[in-house]
Amino acid sequence: MNSDLQKILVDEQTILNRIDELAGQINSDYAHLESIVIVSILKGAFMFTSDLLKRINVPHVVDFMALSTYGAESKVSGEVRVIMDLRHPVQNQHVLIVEDILDTGLTLQFLERILQTRNVASLKTCVLTQKEGKENNLINIDYLGFTIPDVWVVGYGLDYADKHRTLPYIAELKPEVYT
Ligand code: PRP
Repeated sequence: MNSDLQKILVDEQTILNRIDELAGQINSDYAHLESIVIVSILKGAFMFTSDLLKRINVPHVVDFMALSTYGAESKVSGEVRVIMDLRHPVQNQHVLIVEDILDTGLTLQFLERILQTRNVASLKTCVLTQKEGKENNLINIDYLGFTIPDVWVVGYGLDYADKHRTLPYIAELKPEVYT
């Protein structure tokens, strides 16, 4: 294991098993629709999106939006920036947002506001991880993978200063790495 890591919190097989379950729920809930639009939030959601969509059998297109709340360092700026917008309009589309983590909730709140102004037909959220104690009444998660401890996590898309994103599992970062 990389020396920056404290311990593995969710191993690869556990992630994939849970994604099987989430995909099953999504396939069943959207079975009556002709097509849906998956909005994947970069960079963090790229691995989750890939594994999830391999298991989705509802006709869909995938589009990407890149949003950023944290700078290159560990300090939260409290501000969400659109780095890259969607390629296609989503008006009258059934949209499912795919996110890697809900921490402060700023990113999802911001995104939901933007997408509602584009007059989507419906909007749901699929989030792989939510930090314990960070439940937020303003945000409804329709499909949640795991609740994880409120520590700095990396891997499976999640990063520290853009590092450790491609690990196949979710791990806790050693506090001395970011303090
Ligand atoms: C991370 C993560 C989520 C967001 C969650 O993205 O991927 O999008 O923070 O945090 P929040 O609930 O406090 O808003 P980040 O801004 O670090 O960009 P990245 O996906 O490119 O790593």
